[in-house]
Parts: sequence; C-alpha cells; structure tokens
Amino acid sequence: MSNYRKFFDDDEMTPTKTHIIILAAGQGSRMRSMLPKVLHKVGNLPMITHVIKTALQMDPASISVVLSNASADIEKECTKHAPDIQFFYQNPPLGTAHAVLAAAPILENTSDTIIVLYGDTPLISLETLQNLERTLQEHNLVVVGMEAQDKRRYGRIVLRDDHTIDAIIETHNSDDASIEKAHQSTICNAGLMAFRAPKILEGLRSIPLINGEYPLTHIIAYCRSHALSVGLLLTDERECHGVNARSELASAETNFQSLMREKMMDSGVTLVDPNSIYFSYDTVIEPDCVIEPNVHFGPGVRLASHVIVRSFSYLEGCEIAESALIGPFARIRPDSTIGPHARIGNFVEIKNATLQAGAKVNHLSYIGDAEVGSKTNIGAGTITCNYDGYNKLKTIIGDHVFIGANAALVAPLVIESGAMIAAGSTITKNVEKNALAAARAPQKEIAGAALKYHLNKKKED
Ligand code: UD1
Ligand code: CA
Repeated sequence: MSNYRKFFDDDEMTPTKTHIIILAAGQGSRMRSMLPKVLHKVGNLPMITHVIKTALQMDPASISVVLSNASADIEKECTKHAPDIQFFYQNPPLGTAHAVLAAAPILENTSDTIIVLYGDTPLISLETLQNLERTLQEHNLVVVGMEAQDKRRYGRIVLRDDHTIDAIIETHNSDDASIEKAHQSTICNAGLMAFRAPKILEGLRSIPLINGEYPLTHIIAYCRSHALSVGLLLTDERECHGVNARSELASAETNFQSLMREKMMDSGVTLVDPNSIYFSYDTVIEPDCVIEPNVHFGPGVRLASHVIVRSFSYLEGCEIAESALIGPFARIRPDSTIGPHARIGNFVEIKNATLQAGAKVNHLSYIGDAEVGSKTNIGAGTITCNYDGYNKLKTIIGDHVFIGANAALVAPLVIESGAMIAAGSTITKNVEKNALAAARAPQKEIAGAALKYHLNKKKED
C-alpha cells in the first residue's frame, strides 16, 4: 500500500490518496449462523476477503475494517491478505453512520478520498471503485446505486432533475409520503459511497438516532441542507448484491458464477453449458480450453490452453498443462500437476501427484502421493496404496512404464523407467529399469473340473 495512485482534487489541486473503510460490525443475525456473516463464502472465498482483495487493487493509503468486537477469526482472515489493515470497534453497533465514525481517526485531518464499502457486499469490482474516485471529482459525495430486481431489500435513491441524489429512503421505516416518493424511483442504494472528510465529517456527526440506529443514508439530508452535491454511480446489480440471509448468500453465489462465466467466455474459454459450470474466486483458465457441462472448479485450479475437461469432473488445487484431457467423471484433488497431453479418464482420483507429459490414467484408478513419468500408462483399476494407517507414503514411477490393469502399488515404492507390471500384481518391492515384475499367484488349471462341478450341482437338485 505504499505507492498510492494519485488524483487531483479540483478545488485544492493537491494530489489525494484513497482510504478504504469496510463496515463489518453488523450482527448478521439474519444469517442464523455461529460463523460471522462476513466469513461466509462466495466463490469459495470469505465475503470480506473478496472486498479486501478488490480494495488492495486500488493501492490505497489505508484499509480499515470496522467490527463490533475484536474477532480473532475475522482479523486473522483480513491480515492474511493485508497485513497493514487497521481494525476499529463499534460496540454496540449502532448503525452504518456510527460504524463509519468508529473509524474517525482515519477521517480526521485528511482531505483524501474516503471510500466506504460493506463487508456483506462482496462482489464490488475494481472498475466500480475506480469510477467512484473519478465521479467524486465532480461531487462532494458519491453513492453507488443499481437497478435491483428485488427492490424491497434496499433503500431507494430519489434523484433530482439534474441527476444528483435528493434522498435515500428506507421503505421499511419511513412515513407514507416518503414511501410513496421512494416507489417512484427504480434505483436502489448499494450502500457504498465515496467522499472527502472535511465537508462530510460534521454531517456524519450530526446524523440523528432513528429506530436505535445512526443510518449513513441520512448524510444525504445533511448534504442537501449544506448545498453539497451528491452524485450517483450506477453499477451492475450483480456486484452490489448485499447479503443478509442465507437465501441472499445463494444469490450472491449465483451472481459470482454469472460474472465468472462471462469473464471466462470473454477471455476465450468455451463453456458448453455455462450455467452448469461452477468456478472459484481464483480459477484461471487459458484461452481455447473447452469445459463440458457439469464441471466444478474448487479453489486453486489453473488450466493451460487447449485443455478439455469433460462432464462431471471435480477439480481443486491443481495445475493442468496444455492439451491435457480430463474426465468425464474425474476427480483431481489438491497439490496435483497434470502434464501436457496427459489423460485422466473416468472414475479416476488423483491426489498430491505429478503426472508428466503424455501420461495416461484412463479408468477407475487412485493415484495419490505419486510421481508418474512421461508416456507412462496406468492400467484400469490400478491403486497406489499410499497410507499405512499412520503415514502417507510415496510412489515414484518413471517414464514409459506400463502398469497392467488392477495393480496394487504398495508405497513406498519406486518403479523405474521402462518397467512393466503384470496385471493384477500387488507390488511391494522396487522394480528396476526395463524389468517386468509380476506378483500374483500362478494360474492353475484342472481339466474337466468345471463340468464335474455342474454335474454334481444338478444331482443335488
Ligand atoms: C444498508 C443501507 C440500505 C442499502 C443496503 C445495501 C443503511 C441505513 N441502509 O441496509 O440503504 O440499500 O445497505 O446493501 O445504511 N454495519 C456496521 N455497523 C452497524 C450496522 C451495519 O458495521 O452498526 C455494517 C454491516 O456489517 C454491513 C453493512 O454495514 O456490512 C450494512 O449493514 P446492514 O445492516 O446489512 O444494512 P442494510 O439493512 O442491508
Ligand atoms: Ca446488508
């Protein structure tokens, strides 16, 4: 957070920096959860972390988080990503304006830009934050608004003829005349705003207590009575969706997935049936990959170009090199690397394993804690026996190895390059380069015994 992006304030012509304040002190009681609301995940990342990661991309002078009490869990999660983050406490939490004032030390004695974000509005984009800064050059305060499908959940923004904001009305606790006025507007308050403190701080301090809360939305009335202009920045509803209850957490997830699918397709990835493909916050897929329907990407997945992921595959914590073919019905677990042109087929589970270029594990296998060399073929049903009940043990297989079907490879084990393993073997000892290892009971044949067996059975009937 050292190299601030600098903006010029029109009035003062001095460079200004940006301070970001994230409000996260609300009780979150509507979630009905033991877990603090902002630690609930969207796209496999806690909501507050989404906000922090986006805030960090602004290269701000400071990031602050307002909490109701010290919370080791929230603070640990925040500082993991932004070690310099500052925490302020608002106990008891008395509304959104009260929350901003909890961070008063940030607001006092600065003419820098202040951006207020909500910990329960995770998908706000970098672009919107940049637009907020830009729009603030024309106003004293800027509020983020949206055309929301379900307007009942939000405060309503009432505009003046010149498109500045006249009021924000909370329809659940206003008088009939205000509600009537609110219903004439289709724009909802996303809750996020930007301002410079010198002209606004006094206003924040003068907001009255209404139904036990000091609502930030009341700053508009102060601005109006002090001839301060309040601008509106309209954004995509999907990124401003606030989460108060589980059903809204689910819609935030839907929005996240919808934004990710768009981003993936815009960058050149084919999603055969976009709505059935699920991403995580950090999924990286290079152009010309093809993802078939019903594929799930857990955290930490990276696909190089021309990878095909067939239906019903579940990938997490793995790197897939170019032109590999995964699935259908494959499960790739964390710490796995799949080499270029490798093939992982149906009902195959890979965990903490590296497969080199062109390796094939096509059917019904478990490859865990292993290294598999290039062009090695793992036969159907082969299992690495990697766990002795106490430790995880390693299997190392060289290049151009052929493992016959249904082999049990008991780790620790080294099978050197060029070796072959007979189908059905239980391999417990290392196998040398180019050797053929077979470890199964020799086949016995008793002439006519089957016929004799059937004749005996028939006699019993
Ligand atoms: C708020 C807005 C509403 C807007 C909506 C958008 C107000 C009065 N209302 O309503 O106009 O449409 O957001 O999502 O601002 N918080 C604190 N301390 C508090 C209270 C809240 O830090 O004392 C934090 C919460 O943790 C949350 C955010 O502020 O991150 C918003 O609070 P919340 O109670 O969820 O406000 P809404 O009722 O959703
Ligand atoms: Ca909310």
